[in-house]
Amino acid sequence: MSTETFDVAITLSPDFRVGRVDPRLFGSFLEHMGRAVHGGVFEPGHPEADDDGFRTDVLDLVRRLGTTAVRYPGGSFVSGYRWEDGVGPREHRPTRLDLAWHATETNAFGTDELMRWCRRADVEPMLAVNLGTRGVQEAVDLVEYCNHPGGTRLSDLRRAHGAEDPYDVRLWFLGNEMDGAWQIGHRPAADYGRLAAATGRAMRMVDPRIELVACGSWAPASATFATWESAVLQECYDTVDHISLHSYHDPTGRTPAAYLATAHELDLAIDAVVATADHVGAALRSPKRLQVAVDEWNVWYRSRWIDPDPDRWPQAPPLLEDTYDDLDATMVASLLVTLLRHADRVSLACLAQLVNVIAPIRTDPGGAAWRQTTFEPFARIAAAARGEVLRVEPRVATYEAEAGEVPLLDATATYDEENGAVVLVLVNRSVTSTARTRVALRGFPLATLDGARELEVAPLSWTVVDLGQRA
Ligand code: AHR
Repeated sequence: MSTETFDVAITLSPDFRVGRVDPRLFGSFLEHMGRAVHGGVFEPGHPEADDDGFRTDVLDLVRRLGTTAVRYPGGSFVSGYRWEDGVGPREHRPTRLDLAWHATETNAFGTDELMRWCRRADVEPMLAVNLGTRGVQEAVDLVEYCNHPGGTRLSDLRRAHGAEDPYDVRLWFLGNEMDGAWQIGHRPAADYGRLAAATGRAMRMVDPRIELVACGSWAPASATFATWESAVLQECYDTVDHISLHSYHDPTGRTPAAYLATAHELDLAIDAVVATADHVGAALRSPKRLQVAVDEWNVWYRSRWIDPDPDRWPQAPPLLEDTYDDLDATMVASLLVTLLRHADRVSLACLAQLVNVIAPIRTDPGGAAWRQTTFEPFARIAAAARGEVLRVEPRVATYEAEAGEVPLLDATATYDEENGAVVLVLVNRSVTSTARTRVALRGFPLATLDGARELEVAPLSWTVVDLGQRA
């Protein structure tokens, strides 16, 4: 532990609450990309594979990670996907070109497998529809296939495929990153907004209980960030429940302090999307307020991307298999702190991705599955953060970063009224100094909680502290 220190003062009170911790804040993302599906969650013939070809060693790690929901099947992949290819008997499924990642897709794993896999992993399935090459009818068909009880062609097809009960998918994404020039079927904001509105309205006619996410920008750094959201929402505000935000963080070329400070950019981006959505809502005189779905976030060494060989269409090539270190784990902890801090407006977030592709879980073909450094902060925080997020305003020194003044210590806390648990998550961004943190607890109903605690957090590290006395 370093000998240099800096002081932090934090006061926690159950009276100052931000919002409930929605379990979906600990969602993740499984795309047909690289070895995420094929060779990741699905590897028939692997010694640990079950009858469906699902790797049970991976399933075990997914459960231990504590992810609550999985977004599928993309990502950019969905913008060229035909969902019908991935249901029913395997021998009838076509092999197709995957234009998004310049690969060959066998479709041996599709929506039917995803649903079975989610049940085994104990996670909620969340589906994206293709608004790149397809539109209203195909999305409506997929909702009918998944959610209609029976007695129609597509619901009976699902039953014929072995799923008597509806899959009951609640959360649906209306396309992916449609603002990106590289996205298949990319289109101007107003066009996409109208398509999202028409598609969402029709999907709700099949199942009125579904929630809908409209595409925000591919990144806060995009030249049209906020303008895109505004134009899209002017067309589909009344139809959708969430607007998406993607946030990837690349350490390349940054000092550790500058890299960790980029978590603050996510804070600012969430605020910007909330402000933009609320402006549209106010202009429409709508009483409704949208939520922000941070449906892709993580550390991504984008600088390591190698363009695919235009002459080859490999099956499940290794892509984006970034290896993470301890600093990346601290970054993931800080991004989770940021998401929790916005629990009033961020109800859904997806760690992108889950297995092999920029993921906390990695696998060897035919071999072991293992955890990356980023697994631990996600698992610890997902297991501990329950109840309501408390407002935390640490009194601490700041430092200058690209995004402005950033506190040396990043913090959030949760309080679970049911059992009195108070959990504090701390991230020390200082490269040299230990954070000497004094936490004052005031006004908690369990008398044993009130008082003060002294905690130390080592430089460039994160910690989860359970302060409460469980009933
Ligand atoms: O997660 C990898 C890719 O990043 C996704 O397919 C896309 O949505 C984003 O640009």
